[in-house]
Amino acid sequence: MKKQVVLYKKLSPLLMARLHEQTEVTLIENLDAQGLAKLRDALPRAHGLLGASLKLDAELLDLAPNLQAIASVSVGVDNYDIRYLTERRILLSNTPDVLTETTADTGFALILATARRVVELANMIREGNWTRNIGPTHFGSDVHGKTLGIIGMGRIGEALAQRGHFGFGMPVIYHSQSPKPAVEQRFNAHYRSLPEMLQQADFVCLTLPLTAQTAGLIGAEQFALMRPESIFINISRGKVVDEAALIEALRAGQIRAAGLDVFEREPLNQDSPLLQLNNVVATPHIGSATHETREAMARCAVDNLLAALAGRRPGNLVNVRAWKA
Ligand code: DGY
Repeated sequence: MKKQVVLYKKLSPLLMARLHEQTEVTLIENLDAQGLAKLRDALPRAHGLLGASLKLDAELLDLAPNLQAIASVSVGVDNYDIRYLTERRILLSNTPDVLTETTADTGFALILATARRVVELANMIREGNWTRNIGPTHFGSDVHGKTLGIIGMGRIGEALAQRGHFGFGMPVIYHSQSPKPAVEQRFNAHYRSLPEMLQQADFVCLTLPLTAQTAGLIGAEQFALMRPESIFINISRGKVVDEAALIEALRAGQIRAAGLDVFEREPLNQDSPLLQLNNVVATPHIGSATHETREAMARCAVDNLLAALAGRRPGNLVNVRAWKA
């Protein structure tokens, strides 16, 4: 008998065909109230789940007694209770690597957009306000040659360092759990404590995962250490930052600007004060959102799920202890 898969993300026809060949698929097209009701109905017979952007807590997972594997179409796994999944020996896999370069591109887009005020000045033209040559009140700041600070030197951090070092001649400093000699050698990067990094970087970029240890890592105390000309970039998770403190730091001129792809609550509320600030470039969590990369992520997730359901160790297993158990 074919295994039952609940899919809560649309896939390309090619990937749908692969899943249909080997499994029985229930597709939840939208995670609206109706979709969530359909998901609850389908969970009791599910052996596998594949999707993204859904908090799968114990209450939902308890509806799925036969569940063997979850393939998340994301690198971040903050939507899952890994300890609980491991206890139940449910294999959780994610999609790292395939999105690294695209997400680093997003980081650099935000660095350039904030420093050169791209969105604000493009809007000025649209609004009919380009009436004479621009002057110093519209000038931005350079990116090349400035100090790039990276908090969380994982794959995406490294890809950002590569762009900064080789493309823009930026000195790179970083903070992570421990120093990374190979990274230091490749990008002539220097390890800094968190306070040193905040004081020295022209661009402070967050690329670290959301965990119990990183939640709220950057708040009022940390923004106070940054310089009025520094720019804050977040392409990791909104909850790593105290958003109210960020808004305060922007309003008070403690930092020059912020480029934000992630927020405490997503979608970002239309009346968020962030959207009132000209020195904020906000994007709707587009980190990995290109046609090529989203297809590669979905392919990777399908591979992971099919392997797990066939009793093989998936390529990107997150909770290795569940496999060993
Ligand atoms: C990820 O894969 O975790 C990115 O944030 C896209 O959701």
